[in-house]
Amino acid sequence: MTQTHFGYETVDENDKAGRVRGVFDSVAKKYDVMNDLMSAGMHRAWKAYTVAVANLKPGDRALDIAGGTGDLARAFAKKVGPTGVVVHTDINEAMLRVGRDRLLDEGLVLPTTICDAERLPFATGRFDLVSVAFGLRNMTHKEAALAEMNRVLRPGGRLLVLEFSKVAEPLRKIYDWYSFSVLPRVGQFVAGDADSYRYLAESIRMHPDQETLKGMMKGAGFGHVDVHNMSGGVVALHVGIRC
Ligand SMILES: C[S@@+](CC[C@H](N)C(=O)[O-])C[C@H]1O[C@@H](n2cnc3c(N)ncnc32)[C@H](O)[C@@H]1O
Repeated sequence: MTQTHFGYETVDENDKAGRVRGVFDSVAKKYDVMNDLMSAGMHRAWKAYTVAVANLKPGDRALDIAGGTGDLARAFAKKVGPTGVVVHTDINEAMLRVGRDRLLDEGLVLPTTICDAERLPFATGRFDLVSVAFGLRNMTHKEAALAEMNRVLRPGGRLLVLEFSKVAEPLRKIYDWYSFSVLPRVGQFVAGDADSYRYLAESIRMHPDQETLKGMMKGAGFGHVDVHNMSGGVVALHVGIRC
């Protein structure tokens, strides 16, 4: 039996995806409001920067993995226009439903697919750009997921991984206090769920730091990887090029 972590807990590998599903089933309806509250709106700036780095052009083909409620998919769709394609995917039906309804309300009809990043149902070399925002941390086999992201990109295509990362030393104390004392309380008050937000704080601490993730991306076949730290390393954008 192989073990992995779910936040600070050690769990059977086969149980992690189900535990993660429970978290996102629970928070799906309050996900967007909680994102704004807990990041004081900063997630919008992190995503806007990611969209700028993506630099998509009309006609491009993009895949958003773990796309949840659709922030990146929506922004990408505006860039690629009617001649391009943005596929909005997630493993979690509840998150994808909230996202799809939100995009439909805005008049955006995107191909939407439930799929596991570790087994992508797309042809090799299909996309110019693949993105995963705040999703990789939750995956059981991150190397397998990164290899799949590499496979579905065309040579020269880029993977953008936006994820919580390791904060700079001077911020660590206040960031820990905020993560473990404030966040679960806000989660309880707004979403009626302190545990999911405690998992968020723990899973961030267990996630590979900037250099480790860079090495994992290189190991998955990305010939060149750049790291862009944001907000003192609270978040990092890793950009990998498939060679
Ligand atoms: C924190 S949300 C991020 C949603 C969105 N990308 C955003 O930035 O707002 C993480 C998402 O990762 C998804 N996820 C977790 N494991 C996954 C997997 N193995 N394959 C695809 N999506 C996964 C969850 O269902 C959830 O919707």
